[in-house]
Amino acid sequence: MTTENIYILGIESSCDDTAASVLLNGRVLSNVVASQKIHEEYGGVVPELASRAHQKNIVPVVAQALKKAGITKNELQAVAFTRGPGLMGSLLVGTSFAKSLAFGLDIPLIDVNHMQAHILAHFIEEADFTKPPFPFLAMTISGGHTQIVEVSSYFDLKVIGETIDDAVGEAFDKSGKILGLGYPAGPEIDKRAKLGNPKAFKFTKPKVDGLNFSFSGLKTGILYFVQRETKANPNFVEENLNDICASIQYTIIGILIDKLKLATKQTGINHIAIGGGVSANSGIRQALKDGEQKFGWTTYVPKFEYTTDNAAMIAIVGYLKYLEGHFSEQDITASSRLKI
Ligand code: KG4
Ligand code: ZN
Repeated sequence: MTTENIYILGIESSCDDTAASVLLNGRVLSNVVASQKIHEEYGGVVPELASRAHQKNIVPVVAQALKKAGITKNELQAVAFTRGPGLMGSLLVGTSFAKSLAFGLDIPLIDVNHMQAHILAHFIEEADFTKPPFPFLAMTISGGHTQIVEVSSYFDLKVIGETIDDAVGEAFDKSGKILGLGYPAGPEIDKRAKLGNPKAFKFTKPKVDGLNFSFSGLKTGILYFVQRETKANPNFVEENLNDICASIQYTIIGILIDKLKLATKQTGINHIAIGGGVSANSGIRQALKDGEQKFGWTTYVPKFEYTTDNAAMIAIVGYLKYLEGHFSEQDITASSRLKI
């Protein structure tokens, strides 16, 4: 047990959020995120614009994180950064900045896998939060990822299922686009789903073996359905929007829960931790709660600010690696397809 005060700076720049966070012994002192609104105009993340925005934001965001934490950069013990996976141009900004800062301060540099960070976000020190016990299953669901991982320890993680095409967040966002909703459409579909009938329309679930996912067929199914119905009634979407949203959400949640049921059966593990932006969805939260009653699961959902892309999750992995002395060399490079 250390009595030393360990300050870690985490830096995240894998997609369209520039984020920095300072942790003291695993507890969050600051968690700053600059989200890039520019992509909303394009209906999705534009990589080139994301890199430029990171370039602009990175120094002010880090300065703000240090200021909010009430420390100077000279008090940091290490700099942790997202090495991958993500958009290469975006990763390069955070990676280069982190390397330079660690070099300038002459402190350890720690590379972090973004997917591992989504999972280990559950280990951020928080009052009133129960951490999942090992082993547990982690389901990471966001605009960029859909994975089920068997977690045996902080550093022993095995991907047992993942999407073979679109991520689940993309299924929400692309369906929303077909319905004429803004980007990202997930929150709006969630809101409307509460007012609609989830069984009004039936969409075919993909048939994918094992624990892998597929969402691109569902998107195409929804597109054909909308085209067909609008031909018969041009006002079909606006007259049935809440029911369509409820039915889409019901189908997506059904896909996720079916795979979780299979994963718990295959592994014998009933502790399930979720993360990623889609874990904000009220329907998935309810379905997980129901799973506690129906299937004997225990489920874990972190605070919202630690489920979407953030740097506190990068810093917690940095802290855990720091305690083990897992440091990176200065010649490390960003890796857009980094695996867990
Ligand atoms: O983790 P995140 O902020 O960024 C990454 O994709 O890495 O996740 C964003 C995704 C978007 O696809 C968005 O539509 C979805 O999460 N999302 C939701 C909800 N809130 C955000 N999807 C369904 N229901 C929600 N309430
Ligand atoms: Zn992410």
